[in-house]
Amino acid sequence: SQAEIGLIGLGVMGSNLALNIAEKGNKIAVFNRTVDATRKFYAEAGALKEQIVPCETIEDFVAAIRPPRPIIIMIKAGEPVDQQMAALKPHLARGDIMIDAGNANFRDTMRRFDMLKDSGFTFIGMGVSGGEEGARHGPSIMVGGTQESYARVEKVLTSIAAKYEGDPCVAWLGENGAGHFVKTIHNGIEYADMQMIAEIYGILRDGLKMTASEIGEVFGGWNKGRLNSYLIEITEKVLKAADPLTGKPTVDLILDKAGQKGTGKWSVIEAQNMGVPATAIEAAVAARSISSAKEEREAAEKILGLPPVGAFQVADRNAFIKDLENGLLAAKIGAYAQGFAVMSAASKEFGWNLPMPTIAKIWRAGCIIRSQFLDEITTAFTKAPDAANLIVTPAFASMVKETDAALRRVVSAAVLGGLPVPALASALGYFDSYRRGRGTANVIQAQRDFFGAHGFDRIDGADSHHGPWGSGLKA
Ligand code: 6PG
Repeated sequence: SQAEIGLIGLGVMGSNLALNIAEKGNKIAVFNRTVDATRKFYAEAGALKEQIVPCETIEDFVAAIRPPRPIIIMIKAGEPVDQQMAALKPHLARGDIMIDAGNANFRDTMRRFDMLKDSGFTFIGMGVSGGEEGARHGPSIMVGGTQESYARVEKVLTSIAAKYEGDPCVAWLGENGAGHFVKTIHNGIEYADMQMIAEIYGILRDGLKMTASEIGEVFGGWNKGRLNSYLIEITEKVLKAADPLTGKPTVDLILDKAGQKGTGKWSVIEAQNMGVPATAIEAAVAARSISSAKEEREAAEKILGLPPVGAFQVADRNAFIKDLENGLLAAKIGAYAQGFAVMSAASKEFGWNLPMPTIAKIWRAGCIIRSQFLDEITTAFTKAPDAANLIVTPAFASMVKETDAALRRVVSAAVLGGLPVPALASALGYFDSYRRGRGTANVIQAQRDFFGAHGFDRIDGADSHHGPWGSGLKA
């Protein structure tokens, strides 16, 4: 019998995804640019060999798949995807579906989708989250494309996706770039989650002077509470791991420079394009950039110094650690609220009709930001799918009211102690600006009118006015 699906690109993610597909009883044809990788992959597939058709030429590969042929392309994002698509195209037949499963920029996905529109082939842009482990045993899968092409792959994707209490973490989210856009925002939130955890770690390390394994204990405790999530779980593990060579905590030996491949940055760029604040995500992206400037930071420390010893003060250590837990939860709410607000604006902008409760649902398992918390978001959006913002849904409004004082104390202590908390502070700033009915932009408007005669609306409803700036400046 023919293969149900094909996969090109046997790198780490591609291999694991192919094994997952085979293991769930789906016959799969595989192809790699270098034949050696294909042979090695097949040789190591063990009992799963029966479900795998290793192909050494693109002709054999295409012939091995049942039409209309769904073909997953799992290679480096960008140019290589266009090249692969161009190489594949002459071998395909009407109705065949090219599926880009990499971390593509959704604008590329829209372009590719449009490019194939009248060719008789279709294109799916599919976000896959969960790293190596997720690809192998159950990722979260965010699909964008035509509903018709999704119907062709739904069964296979459902079989390989992670399950949350039996619910598969895969969904069709909308046309063209919808899947890759949602994956991008997933990653933006992932950046914020990770940065906030790192800031809390910094307070425990540099403020409370705790060792890596002591901090690991704290995170381990939190993982049993409301912060329960994959990222908190691995943070405990990471902090407790000892370096085999020196016996020292591994984290203490890791250079403090973090890389980035683009998804976080794209989240922020798109948020800015639509005029939606995503400040916590932006702070996280900026923090990675500052982290990369290691030499510059070291030079600056010599010039500017650090705040005086003793500047960081807490009255009651245990109460403060409790504040860190609640404060992190509050800040996390801010980051997710921003991510969902960006998706909601994009949904209108690109005409996707993104289903917010479904997105929260398929993030509950398999992906990097999976957590208990996402089940609460699912419930909140199911009850109020049109809520203006996550933080004004009843459940999250009360969570914010319950935890924001803790975030305030955490940020205050860190700021006074000179410990950088840009993501935590931006979440707090977001709450404080979002919930204040009377803000301060009246001054901005007056200034704009003063120097540019922009005009302003008055609070009594009468529109466009100019101020008495020229003469009689006294009110
Ligand atoms: C996931 C991850 C994964 C990867 C990203 C982010 O959801 O499984 O997001 O896709 O970690 O590429 O990578 P960077 O941190 O390198 O930008």
